[in-house]
Amino acid sequence: MQKLAVLTSGGDASGMNAAIRAVVRSAIYLKMQVYGVYQGFEGLIAGNLKEMTLGSVADIIHRGGTILQTSRSESFRQEKGIEQAKKNLLEQGIENLVVIGGNGSLRGGYEISRLGINVIGIPATIDNDVVYTRSIGYDTAVNTVLDAINHIRDTASSHGRVFIIEVMGRDCGEIALAAGVAGGAESILIPEIETDLEQLITKIQAGMDRGKLHSIIIVAEGVYPVMDLQNYILEKTGQDTRITILGHIQRGGTPTAADRILASQMGKMAVDCIANGQKNVMIAVREERLLTIPLREVVNGSKTPELEMFELARILSI
Ligand code: F6P
Repeated sequence: MQKLAVLTSGGDASGMNAAIRAVVRSAIYLKMQVYGVYQGFEGLIAGNLKEMTLGSVADIIHRGGTILQTSRSESFRQEKGIEQAKKNLLEQGIENLVVIGGNGSLRGGYEISRLGINVIGIPATIDNDVVYTRSIGYDTAVNTVLDAINHIRDTASSHGRVFIIEVMGRDCGEIALAAGVAGGAESILIPEIETDLEQLITKIQAGMDRGKLHSIIIVAEGVYPVMDLQNYILEKTGQDTRITILGHIQRGGTPTAADRILASQMGKMAVDCIANGQKNVMIAVREERLLTIPLREVVNGSKTPELEMFELARILSI
């Protein structure tokens, strides 16, 4: 009987549970034995594995977070940790590992694949910064931010204020761009494009001159310190300015239909890859079609920003 283990790693993302469910159920459907690894790579090093049944994944498709829990494992960056993880898998006769997570987790998967474990990656991170694919959790996060923008827009208009909304994304502006465009933000600051403060001020001022009721500025984390930005806007325009930092609100919550469907499709395909003898790939989605990309290419690639979206936002927010 073929055996596989599944783990979630790095920052949790809504839809991870739907992916775990799909992996477990597809594996059982194909008469494979499937183990859940608790607390990501940290748990793999500690040998924290448990066999999963159909019931282990019942009633989780709609839940955010991950029932397997997760970690950002420092030990797995070291040779010793990876060796121990491999040993724990092989001791149980497990030669296949499904890794659900973002860039750091897929790199971890790649490293253990180099020691002979067959690793199938499933991209899951709100940041959507994994190359060649959309990631599970991104759609939910964007919708959470959009919901927040809608709420803030009400109060911003009522008071005639400028609002700075800081969103997550690590080094990637995808959440900021998508939520900014969908939410009709006046300005979007992302790490991939140099911030033009003068243009930002000109826009706020032009809006005020036209009698606009508010200005909403979406800032991807790390691009510009939001307190400094608040002071700068106040100094240059005299506009009452408030800050909302959305933080980890973006990581939780019930996954959207799009994330649940993507997670279900990717989870099943990961198991199909194992059944068909495909090795060391990541499942990706492009133009609504699933495909596989060698893990080696994933860890060596870097995502190019959606500059067309930035241009769209710029034009529509005049
Ligand atoms: O990678 C997902 C993410 O939420 C990033 O957007 C953010 O920079 C980081 O994780 C926060 O990590 P932590 O939850 O460990 O503070």
